[in-house]
Amino acid sequence: MTPVDRAADLRQTLARARHDGGRIGFVPTMGALHAGHARLIARARDECDTVVVSLFVNPLQFDRTDDLERYPRTLEADTALCSSLGTDVLFVPAAGEMYPAEPLCRIDVGRLGAHLCGARRPGHFGGVALVVMKLFQMVGPDRAYFGEKDAQQLAIIRRLVRDFDVPVEVVGVPTVREADGLALSSRNRRLSADERERAPALHRALLEAARLIDAGQTDAGAIVAEARAEVPEDGDLRVEYLEIVDPDELQPVQRITGPVLVAGALWVGHTRLIDNLSCTPPAARP
Ligand code: PAJ
Repeated sequence: MTPVDRAADLRQTLARARHDGGRIGFVPTMGALHAGHARLIARARDECDTVVVSLFVNPLQFDRTDDLERYPRTLEADTALCSSLGTDVLFVPAAGEMYPAEPLCRIDVGRLGAHLCGARRPGHFGGVALVVMKLFQMVGPDRAYFGEKDAQQLAIIRRLVRDFDVPVEVVGVPTVREADGLALSSRNRRLSADERERAPALHRALLEAARLIDAGQTDAGAIVAEARAEVPEDGDLRVEYLEIVDPDELQPVQRITGPVLVAGALWVGHTRLIDNLSCTPPAARP
């Protein structure tokens, strides 16, 4: 595995791979890698000739400085994991390499950022779109792998690629979960034992919404109200949002007549966790 911290070296290394005609697979991450990231890397390894993983904690996508400061950093373990999964190139740029000057040209994700996390984290998805666009320019991948766990991010990247004609195929990878349903996240390691026990409440609420949709209920407001009741909210457990939106443009749905995304964010103490499920009502199934 070749570790690289400069974009120019990355381009040079990958020019060779590209010249040999192989397919380049890319997995962008912020490090603190876990089995969810590993699934993305393994998929890229299966499908591509050269696998590039980036580790960069992107300051532009953090709306709270305490979240940026507390974001876990585990470079040594990340490097070992990437190597063990057969990564060819590990790109770990410093902030000054990614942003030698303050970027003045920004990306506006429009109404894709109007709901779910976008409504609560001002500037977040603009920051994600900008860094992913820069990484796409640097890596020039044929395929890029993103987790369905971050469904709004995935929808935005798909649209970014379409709107800006980026020649990359975006691959969505299903969410990897713990046995009790909790979606794997770098932020899970911040949870205390008690918080960890309560954290799967979000997944239970999503499952309840999925069950109601499956049973033929179509009133999104009523479904959300019933699903929220699955979370025993108190001072430590607080639902930030639970919403049902259409899967492409992520706009709220009142009556469920086709495929939807049920998505939520839960505060567990000082940690914010997100999760989602895709559902298709019985009436819309083939
Ligand atoms: P990060 O949170 O490190 O996630 C990197 C990738 O791993 C994302 O595509 C995310 O959706 C995926 N992922 C995280 N947890 C997962 C799980 N439990 N199952 C499946 N996939 C999972 O997302 C980011 O970084 C950043 O926003 C980034 C795209 C790198 C831009 O900075």
